[in-house]
Amino acid sequence: MNKLITVGAAVLVSVSAAYAEVPAYLDRTKPIEERVEDALSRLTLKEKVALCHAQSKFSSAGVPRLGIPELWWSDGPHGVRAEINWNDWGYANWTNDSVTAFPALTALAATWNPELSALYGKNVGEEARYREKDVLLGPGVNIYRTPLNGRNFEYMGEDPYLAGEMVVPYIQELQKNGVAASVKHFALNNQEKWRGNIDVEVSDRALYEIYLPAFKRAVVDGKAWTIMGAYNKYNGQHCCHNSRLLNDILRGEWGFDGVVVTDWGGAHDTREAALNGLDVEMGSFTNGLTADAGSSYDEYYLGRPFRELVASGEVPMEVLDAKARNILRLIFRTAMNTDKPFGSLATPEHYAAAKAIGDESIVLLKNDGLLPLRADAGKRILVVGENAVKMLNKGGGSSELKVKDMKSPLEALRAAFGEANVTYAQGYESGPSIYGFQIPIPANVSDSLFADAVSKAKESDIIIYIGGLNKNGFQDCESSDRAGYNLPFGQDSLIEALADINPNIIVANISGNAYAMPWIKKVPAIIQSWYLGTMIGPSMADVITGKINPSGKLPFSFPYRLEDNSAHASGELSYPGIERDPQPADEKNPFAGHMGNKPEQRYDDDILVGYRWHDTKKIPAMFAFGHGLSYTDFKYGKATASAKEFASDGSITVTVPVTNIGTTEGKETVQLYISDEKSSLPRPLKELKAFRKVSIAPGETKEVSFKVSADDLKFFDDKAHEWVAEPGKFKALIGSSSADIRATVPFSYK
Ligand code: GLC
Repeated sequence: MNKLITVGAAVLVSVSAAYAEVPAYLDRTKPIEERVEDALSRLTLKEKVALCHAQSKFSSAGVPRLGIPELWWSDGPHGVRAEINWNDWGYANWTNDSVTAFPALTALAATWNPELSALYGKNVGEEARYREKDVLLGPGVNIYRTPLNGRNFEYMGEDPYLAGEMVVPYIQELQKNGVAASVKHFALNNQEKWRGNIDVEVSDRALYEIYLPAFKRAVVDGKAWTIMGAYNKYNGQHCCHNSRLLNDILRGEWGFDGVVVTDWGGAHDTREAALNGLDVEMGSFTNGLTADAGSSYDEYYLGRPFRELVASGEVPMEVLDAKARNILRLIFRTAMNTDKPFGSLATPEHYAAAKAIGDESIVLLKNDGLLPLRADAGKRILVVGENAVKMLNKGGGSSELKVKDMKSPLEALRAAFGEANVTYAQGYESGPSIYGFQIPIPANVSDSLFADAVSKAKESDIIIYIGGLNKNGFQDCESSDRAGYNLPFGQDSLIEALADINPNIIVANISGNAYAMPWIKKVPAIIQSWYLGTMIGPSMADVITGKINPSGKLPFSFPYRLEDNSAHASGELSYPGIERDPQPADEKNPFAGHMGNKPEQRYDDDILVGYRWHDTKKIPAMFAFGHGLSYTDFKYGKATASAKEFASDGSITVTVPVTNIGTTEGKETVQLYISDEKSSLPRPLKELKAFRKVSIAPGETKEVSFKVSADDLKFFDDKAHEWVAEPGKFKALIGSSSADIRATVPFSYK
């Protein structure tokens, strides 16, 4: 009996003691850093190392013994990807993971509206939260250097300032849901060909002025909780464990306190992964199924091999502790964050957000008066083109989505104009969207689709052509670049044939990249639409009918020819790079497309990317960066400056009146570019430094003002390794696009 009482008392004491002392790492009243340190102090070596690598395709370990949860990672930038199997890339085919497909980030950039970026981050964050994901693998901010890059649709265009402005609100609002952003792919992943291994050489000026700024904004202003390393190399080291990018720049210069995660399969060396700033290794090429060496999660570079290096003392425990600290901080910000909301999925509010973003993203490139096409026009309308019906949320790689709803452009146009007034012809066939593949289309199929469209064109009053690119391999798709600059599947000749039959043709293409338009003179109205996801149909139909006045502006240039683009102006080493040791892609070398054989590349265009190239080299673009028309017209008045000069601690305010001289309300994005008349190092002719999207009623005038300070005048001096503003003469160029400057104000900087 005594024994029973003793045991009972002991249990009582331990229970009460345990109850009384909530350990610091579980005490939500304590500051997060205190909780991190307390948790770290309780971990074994094995538990710390387990935090640093995957335990499944899309999860990494927690600490079960301490009740510290695992982390769940999920694609992607445009919405929450359907559930993937534990150990392979297959879909788990759940029945509760159909989501809202939000517009592609190129579309978000084309809105030039940071408020919509905040709306985007809030809504996609609610869906990721509801799907109980801790990290959403996006947004991507790699710079659009070539129109052949298969993944440009996931990014925010050719200008680092626009991309930076548009990425910050997305991250801030996403993370308010207790879901981490994973800004990708850091860095210099500006093409898909040989992405796994290509060794990029670039000047420090181009690195700091073009390729890093949007990532820096994401970290410093967006406070991103994770960054994803890119697959490629930079200066001989894979970006996922690149000492200069991760230790020197990301942590050293930017003060990043989050987690660096690999792209899936982006790690290649234990010692580099240990010492060069990587925290979590995901997706390495093991199946995780079998326990034999080389194919289980403990065999990851940051698994057993890393554990042995630390146990032997070859790698100091502090190195491991630094990783574990970053990962624990991420867990407390996400999985153990008990203040986060519960989220929601595929709600009317999310659809409305997707629609609002899509509405403001569509760019009116050309309009000789055919648009808007009033819904009561009573015309016989022929819609031609596969993209009028194709489900473009599927394909494209890791950003693909399983949608709950999606109304196609054809359905929406039939709803707007009346079923009986709208005939359809597919026009061409692209085949299934298969990752990195293009299935050849039999000539007889193409010919019959072509003939059908042409014959129907003779019976129509208006043609609306909806084609462009799609998410098939070698188009707008991960792991392969486009095969060429022209539209595929014979679309150019189809558009020409249709325009010859009926000149009342509207081309409303959908793509994530620029493309050639050999038919441009024959087409009176051209719209550039994007992968808008769930609400693509209603957004496109509302712009075509004029229910929405288009206000999108191009986030990248449309060159007439590929050779006019900066990456394609100086030979193969510039694009796509060269293979030092070319070998055929065969069963011995299955990853040839992804890895190549010692491929290398040099960014010879340097700081002159996009409109910087077109301006400075005086090569006019077919449609310029920042271009976008409206169904109304805007007149810019004389620009004025609050002073003629300012010093380093000062600034001036540049103001321009903008009047809506048309008959319908419209939004105009007023753009401010700065031109440095004389500098000690070469500079582009002008660079975007501010923009403001304003809604103006017919007859109304709005004064649009911009503050210009020393920061807006700076360039990166790579010798001094610092940003400098040199005294001298400058111009503020205010325009409706980079090629349509409406007002100029000279000023001096002392
Ligand atoms: C892919 C992509 C990356 C994605 C990851 C997980 O290869 O490059 O953007 O988030 O792997 O699917």
